[in-house]
Amino acid sequence: MNVIDKYTLDLRIDRALKMPMYLQIRQRFKTAIEQGHLRAGDRVPAVRVLATELNLARGTVEMAYRLLTDEGYLVVRGAAGTVVSPSLPQSVLKPRIAAPDRSPAAIIDHDGLAPRPLQLGLPALDAFPRKVWNRLVAHRLRGSEPARLSYPDPAGYRHLRERIATYLGLSRGVVCLPEQVFITNGLRTTLEVILSSLSRAGDGFWFEDPGYILARPFLQNAAVKLVPVPVDQHGIMVEQGERLSPNAKFAMVTPSHQSPIGVTLSLERRMALLDWADRAGGWIIEDDYDSEFRYQGRPLPALKSLDRNDRVIYSGTFSKVMFPGLRLAYMVAPMSAVARFQAAVNDLNPGCPYLFQAGVADFMAQGHFSRHLKKMRLLYEKRRAVTQRAFLQVLGDRLRIDLQPGGLHMLGTLADHEDDVMLAERARAAGLALRPLSRWYLNAKPRQGLLFGFANIIDENDALRLALTLKQAWRQPGG
Ligand SMILES: Cc1ncc(COP(=O)(O)O)c(C=O)c1O
Repeated sequence: MNVIDKYTLDLRIDRALKMPMYLQIRQRFKTAIEQGHLRAGDRVPAVRVLATELNLARGTVEMAYRLLTDEGYLVVRGAAGTVVSPSLPQSVLKPRIAAPDRSPAAIIDHDGLAPRPLQLGLPALDAFPRKVWNRLVAHRLRGSEPARLSYPDPAGYRHLRERIATYLGLSRGVVCLPEQVFITNGLRTTLEVILSSLSRAGDGFWFEDPGYILARPFLQNAAVKLVPVPVDQHGIMVEQGERLSPNAKFAMVTPSHQSPIGVTLSLERRMALLDWADRAGGWIIEDDYDSEFRYQGRPLPALKSLDRNDRVIYSGTFSKVMFPGLRLAYMVAPMSAVARFQAAVNDLNPGCPYLFQAGVADFMAQGHFSRHLKKMRLLYEKRRAVTQRAFLQVLGDRLRIDLQPGGLHMLGTLADHEDDVMLAERARAAGLALRPLSRWYLNAKPRQGLLFGFANIIDENDALRLALTLKQAWRQPGG
């Protein structure tokens, strides 16, 4: 049973309206019940409490409640208080209209609930060193002086910016100053800052096709002109981009581990892309979201490390190397654009919570970050091998998984005649969160395949169980 307050129901009354106040209260309750915000059995606030909160005479609220009781919306239960009638006629309840949701985000499982098996985009949540993290954050919490309760710096917490600059130099070959590092709460804020710093309405924006599905709606709604550029086994086809939109202002790419198909941008294409940016005065946005996890050889240097002419904006995130609930990401502004980025964050970015930024800075400074990455590389290597084996054993050729050199997700290829949307829906009905690759495409001819995360598959039994559930789900008629 819910206990409702005036804010969840928006019971605040408008004294400027002609309608008497008791009728306003009655109307708000009726609407809340009809629309399903208040449900059968929910307890409504006591007369005295609501009268105090709304600054009204008790008699006014009593009158509203009496009417609602007479009309059958409320029932008085003596000491148990007044509740929404458990026997409301169906006719009172308006069917809740589920608006058709066509946004790509609708097919992503971000709902704050426990992750679903095979969910994309997650690191191993069971393996994050929570004790260490809790200790570091608690330490900062205990030690925070009053100044820390003030507004955070919109560019980011100074010590975290320094740590990131050092880390990028050592691990990704990206040489930058802390002043170039801006902290955001995720890729979409990063893009917002970039566009507001550097774009004009109508600028062409190369976007990988297939490309990162969660960035798409944001870019489609922005004032840029999205230009889908096909991707092959060497990454984005730069010459196609030049053919489609030579004067584009931006190219957003995932060079280390193409999202979603997993290929690495070849050196030749890297050079061609940098060359285009030089000639066209374009900006390359390097989305380096999961490059820390590479299982064959050392992590590749970032594209930014080859950028001699200051054309690359580097974008990184803590969502994979730590955990996505943290909502901390960062970008490295080109030297020539630092002042514009600073102005944009002042205007747009309210800043990220000090406590978590300081926690991450300590996590990095005390060596936990590099230890965690090292451990995760080994763990993911095991988990992905186990997953591939189990899926092959149970599903055979139907879902062909070619291991990619890096990353936290897998792509299972299906034969051309298969329907990945339908197979993903069947899997979903069985509680599995695989995603149809074809949805990631814009103009290019879609390949049929299924994308899924393997980082949370704990062992061989777990992998076998999931593969069997999938097989079972596909056995249904038509599957
Ligand atoms: C391609 C790609 N870019 C960026 C991100 C990171 O986004 P954020 O930092 O907003 O969590 C992800 C996360 O799944 C991703 O898949």
